[in-house]
Amino acid sequence: MSAPSPRAGWWARRRSRSCWRRRSSRSSAATPSPRRVATSTRSCQGCGDGHGDRGGPHVIVYLVGMPGSGKSTVGPELARRLGVPFVELDEQIERAAGVSVREIFERDGEARFRELEAAALVDAGSNDPSVISCGGGVVLEPANRVTLRATGEIVFLSVPLEVLRARVRPGADRPLIRSEGDLEKLFLDREPLYREFAAHVVDASGSAQDVAAAIEKELLRWSA
Ligand code: S3P
Repeated sequence: MSAPSPRAGWWARRRSRSCWRRRSSRSSAATPSPRRVATSTRSCQGCGDGHGDRGGPHVIVYLVGMPGSGKSTVGPELARRLGVPFVELDEQIERAAGVSVREIFERDGEARFRELEAAALVDAGSNDPSVISCGGGVVLEPANRVTLRATGEIVFLSVPLEVLRARVRPGADRPLIRSEGDLEKLFLDREPLYREFAAHVVDASGSAQDVAAAIEKELLRWSA
């Protein structure tokens, strides 16, 4: 009998209602990333202790990456595939603040936004398994990095600068990318940080469907 395909294995795991196992991981990308030290004790109904009924991931999957890397479009697709809710962290911040991210930046400044972002992350990270799209700057705060690592799997959506340039136009809706050159500066500052920090690095130049499939495969590979 031939060995089951990863997809078959994935469904078998889902159907048998078991959880993804945790273990050290290397990214599928060439650049190594630090090992996660996720310590969540979150439980699963599927494995007999409580989170969902579809045998999906035992953990939160955090999507990090540059503005324009596709977190908000890949996220819902990945969540659908994994059978867990999708959460947009910026929307949680807006809900809590009662105003848009742009208004928070304009009215109270970036430092205040980062405080609200950190609080929203702690809140989201204490919930059930889900896919969470994080704002591009979430990794800047050391406290956020602790929260992310402690509560989930971090996936960096890696997109080359030239692809980002085609996707992201400077403008008022992007508080930190208002002028020509802002995107490039953010990219140079942050790309190494994302790459160093995330346990999983996935090329996100393609369609949301393709990227979500690649993430699922990467997570499966890690859990196998
Ligand atoms: C930010 C990115 C934005 C939003 C805020 C700050 C950043 O989210 O959180 O404007 O620091 O890069 P997206 O990455 O979804 O655009």
